[in-house]
Amino acid sequence: MITTYTDHPLRERNSFHVEEQAARIIEFDAAADLDAIFAVGSEPKEWMVIGGGNNILFTRRFDGTLIHPVGKKITVKCEDDNTLLVEAEAGVDWDEFVRWTVERGAWGAENLSLIPGTVGAAPVQNIGAYGAEAKDIISVVHYYDTLLREHRSLTKAECRFAYRDSIFKGELRGRAIITSVEFCLGKSAKPLLHYGSLQADVEARGGVTLKNIREVVCLTRQSKLPDTNVLGNAGSFFKNPIVPCAVAEELQAKYENMPIYPTSDDAHRKLAAGWLIDQSGLKGYRTGNVGVHDRQALVLVNHGGATGGEVMALARYVQAQVKEKFGIEIEPEVNIL
Ligand code: EPU
Repeated sequence: MITTYTDHPLRERNSFHVEEQAARIIEFDAAADLDAIFAVGSEPKEWMVIGGGNNILFTRRFDGTLIHPVGKKITVKCEDDNTLLVEAEAGVDWDEFVRWTVERGAWGAENLSLIPGTVGAAPVQNIGAYGAEAKDIISVVHYYDTLLREHRSLTKAECRFAYRDSIFKGELRGRAIITSVEFCLGKSAKPLLHYGSLQADVEARGGVTLKNIREVVCLTRQSKLPDTNVLGNAGSFFKNPIVPCAVAEELQAKYENMPIYPTSDDAHRKLAAGWLIDQSGLKGYRTGNVGVHDRQALVLVNHGGATGGEVMALARYVQAQVKEKFGIEIEPEVNIL
């Protein structure tokens, strides 16, 4: 089914809760609806996909069409003693999906509990947390190619997943609309507990079970990250910067306790943007209606009534302070419109 809204307020459709409008919003629930939406002659000129609106900052009215997938079906494709292959439509709430996998006794998504957003958004920026990434469990992504007017699929390898990145942020940006995602989950225990105090926290909760891991991850997130319903935000506003080893080593010589993480290649290291912002003295910083969260400096918040422009001005200030103190450029992880 296709539902269209015109001149529609966006406040409830973006987790920053900034007051902007979209000229048009089209909701669809079946992949086949896209054939009608993009039929020759009636296709939207300027368009963008919006899921839960959890990773976007609107800084102006959007004069085009926001395409919003709302299909919420979860279908088991194949299940045996070792594996569960499941397809979830793009509109499924991500955490609902994780809860479903945990209840079903399937391993692989539990560390990604409580990440705000939808299944369709997960592959775009390869969401990740607590040592896991969506790419670890994604097997196929189904999408509609608006240029070819065709329904297509990509395997995990073809998606070119990397840290907070994929082909959907590159070559297929502005062209693909993800309609569903297939996940391959394990039926035997495969806990991933090397991150921080996860192992100890899970043991303290009674042992390594899927349910305990999910509960610990949820509690950890709730203790650090603000609830978007209470304080508008889009999770991590910046990406953790990836720098040449020499740069990381030089900084670590100066700042002994600076966290450094490996990357997939030996020549680079990942730094913690939250640490850099915190050490720039900005944790809890507030100006007007916007601020840096007081428990996780990587998160910018709307204290109420902020415009997207105010959030952007704060983001630029944070970038400038980090650049001045550490010589490091931090890039937004959130999509700015
Ligand atoms: N840190 C500080 N001060 C802060 C924040 C962090 O010193 O205010 C330090 C921490 O003590 C730690 C390091 O920086 O040593 C890294 O912090 P943390 O473990 O909290 O993770 P992060 O790198 O800040 C990333 C993801 C989060 C994800 C967490 C947990 C990115 C951009 N962010 O944050 O994802 O929940 O790891 O795995 O990679 C999101 O993308 O929206 C998101 C919340």
